[in-house]
Amino acid sequence: MIFVPYDRPVRAAFVGLGRIYDLNMRGYVDNPDVEVVALVDPSQERRDQRQADWPDAATFPSVEKLAASGIDIDTVECLLPAPMHADGIVELLERGWHVNAQKPLCNDLAAAYRILAAAKANDRVLRVMENYLFYEPLRKLKAVVDAGDIGDVAGYHVKMVGSGNGGWDVPWSSFEWQLEQIQVGRGIMVFDDGWHKLSTALWLFGPVREVRAWIGVTSFGSGIDIDAPAMLSWEHENGVRGVWDITLAPDLYMRSDYYTNDERWEVTGTKGYARVNRIMARGIQEPSLQVYCDGEMRGFHALDDDWGNSFRESGRHWIRYMRTGEGPLNWSSEEAVDVLRFALAAYESSAAGGIGVDPRQLGLAGHAGEQRP
Ligand SMILES: NC(=O)c1ccc[n+]([C@@H]2O[C@H](COP(=O)([O-])OP(=O)(O)OC[C@H]3O[C@@H](n4cnc5c(N)ncnc54)[C@H](O)[C@@H]3O)[C@@H](O)[C@H]2O)c1
Repeated sequence: MIFVPYDRPVRAAFVGLGRIYDLNMRGYVDNPDVEVVALVDPSQERRDQRQADWPDAATFPSVEKLAASGIDIDTVECLLPAPMHADGIVELLERGWHVNAQKPLCNDLAAAYRILAAAKANDRVLRVMENYLFYEPLRKLKAVVDAGDIGDVAGYHVKMVGSGNGGWDVPWSSFEWQLEQIQVGRGIMVFDDGWHKLSTALWLFGPVREVRAWIGVTSFGSGIDIDAPAMLSWEHENGVRGVWDITLAPDLYMRSDYYTNDERWEVTGTKGYARVNRIMARGIQEPSLQVYCDGEMRGFHALDDDWGNSFRESGRHWIRYMRTGEGPLNWSSEEAVDVLRFALAAYESSAAGGIGVDPRQLGLAGHAGEQRP
């Protein structure tokens, strides 16, 4: 499609006003390039709560009612629960609206290609926002690595420790759809939160040609089966290898303004290393990025390490795209499919005992050996 940027502030609707709205709305606040004209959520309580942010916006219990209102909409911030993404995103595109969707794009490749086809058929832009790509310590890590400050890349390691102790309140309703996702094999660590880790890997080092995974489960009863411990490893087309370990520490307390995952990224180069020490939670209380080389450690003390602001930057980027057409989208819908393939390759590998799987070769059902769509 040829996207023609808007020569006026874009008219936006929020669809889904739950937990993550609190961060997503940051890109829209004090942004002269956008007018928030509509808010949609079946929950009256959520609509009333969010109306305070946008007193002039009209509120609706459904997308259908918004469409019937005749209010002009250019773009939608889609914050629906993940199980609703496949049908929900298609519906928004078919209404003729550009969509800035949340991850995960959807659960399988058949749905992904259906969504992409809807974007194409309706000549609309679909972005699958990836706020981690806008988190300043990670951006600086990428800049340090790309500049060759630690030599050539020798490999890298992502660490994630899951805990539910500390952080902001997550309403039970936000967990309910996660349980649905667990039931269809799309767990909260590898698939939901993991989407960001896999995205970041692709962003840092490019396409992946082989994935090997060992995904375990820890059951807490009542269907709460957490997909950890897990280890995923992969090789990029450029030969760089990455490894990600996921560990569960349910009683670990983390101070956090958001979720409580303890996370680290460490890239090793031929003459040094660069490490981001924390993302969502305030785990390691060192500078958010440290770079070691030639016997000296450099600490970056003035980066914006508030994870919530990565949403602000990502949201502003999207609105700027709508106004100027300046990319890249971070992520485009095709890039989001690459992330999905990466995750599906990990499942395929783990199910087969950890064999190497090429994510580029998976068929519609997510299996190796099928014909690639
Ligand atoms: N980027 C990130 O780091 C990040 C973090 C958390 C969540 N997310 C993603 O954001 C999305 C929403 O997550 P959440 O935690 O805010 O969930 P949530 O359950 O708190 O909020 C979802 C909201 O959607 C509303 N809703 C349900 N059906 C609807 C419909 N038909 N039309 C309009 N609204 C409807 C619900 O009433 C609820 O208010 C998910 O895709 C999730 O994966 C992303």
